[in-house]
Amino acid sequence: MAIFLFLFFFLLFTYANAGCSQCIQSKATFFSSSNGLSSGACGYGPLALDLYGGHVAAAIPSIYGNGEGCGACFQIKCKNSTLCKSSGTHIVVTDIHNDKTKTTDFVLSSKALTAIALPGKDKHLLHLGIIDVEYTRVPCVYKGQNLTIRVEEFSKPPNYLAIKVLYQGGQTLIFGGEVLGPVDQPHHIAFLSRKYGAVWDTDRAPTGNLTFRFVIGSGFDARYFYTNEGVLPANWKPGVIYNSIVQISDVLINGCEPCKPWK
Ligand SMILES: *[C@@H]1O[C@H](CO)[C@@H](O)[C@H](O)[C@H]1NC(C)=O
Ligand SMILES: *[C@@H]1O[C@H](CO)[C@@H](O)[C@H](O)[C@H]1NC(C)=O
Ligand SMILES: *[C@@H]1O[C@H](CO)[C@@H](O)[C@H](O)[C@H]1NC(C)=O
Repeated sequence: MAIFLFLFFFLLFTYANAGCSQCIQSKATFFSSSNGLSSGACGYGPLALDLYGGHVAAAIPSIYGNGEGCGACFQIKCKNSTLCKSSGTHIVVTDIHNDKTKTTDFVLSSKALTAIALPGKDKHLLHLGIIDVEYTRVPCVYKGQNLTIRVEEFSKPPNYLAIKVLYQGGQTLIFGGEVLGPVDQPHHIAFLSRKYGAVWDTDRAPTGNLTFRFVIGSGFDARYFYTNEGVLPANWKPGVIYNSIVQISDVLINGCEPCKPWK
């Protein structure tokens, strides 16, 4: 167990910017189609368009990581005050952006584009193609929505379980996880491997109702985060979304320069 956590501490330290929500000056570009992100690398599928009202984005590999960046939220604003709102908007990462020219850090969905633009200026921004932005990592806030586990279609009960975590609140990354069998069978624990993006799987799922334990990292710290006991019923089914009654709310210790002025 200690070794397990240690491994994640190591991962945490090697993950860029993990301890700091600093203000980063960079550039962003846009998807021209609103559906551009429904096939994102995180594997959220069409559900991505529901996250943050479709304010979704593809992010560079240093943010995306191996998928740890999936579900991370950022506040982003465009620096041109004649075209953009000074308040910017919040976006959530649903895809990876491999910019070979290393010019841009994000590709924004058209809804995110509309949200950062002053009224009627979104077409102008789209025409510019690349804009100067500044961004900072912020906690994800899903009002009234708890952490949710979606059992992927290709799962095969009772042993092969693939899940993704939706509506991950707070300012943490998920570095690992395990699925725990019922409390009266405490030794039934299976390690989850990251399959891709936000999708985790195991071919040794315990039987009975299931509880998840994720290793989450916030700042320089990592800890276990437990879903409520038996969040998946014993007869869990592929394609079904199970709402937990818990939510992550950890935030980073903000030791870095914030973006200013920033509303
Ligand atoms: C903002 O964008 C407009 C239109 O493209 C441009 O004329 C102006 O120079 C830009 N301002 C800054 C500060 O970049
Ligand atoms: C899960 O299973 C255990 C053992 O069978 C049972 O005691 C517990 O009430 C179940 N929990 C839920 C939420 O169904
Ligand atoms: C979220 O969990 C809380 C308990 O922590 C519960 O009271 C609330 O009803 C849940 N919300 C939803 C939308 O399920």
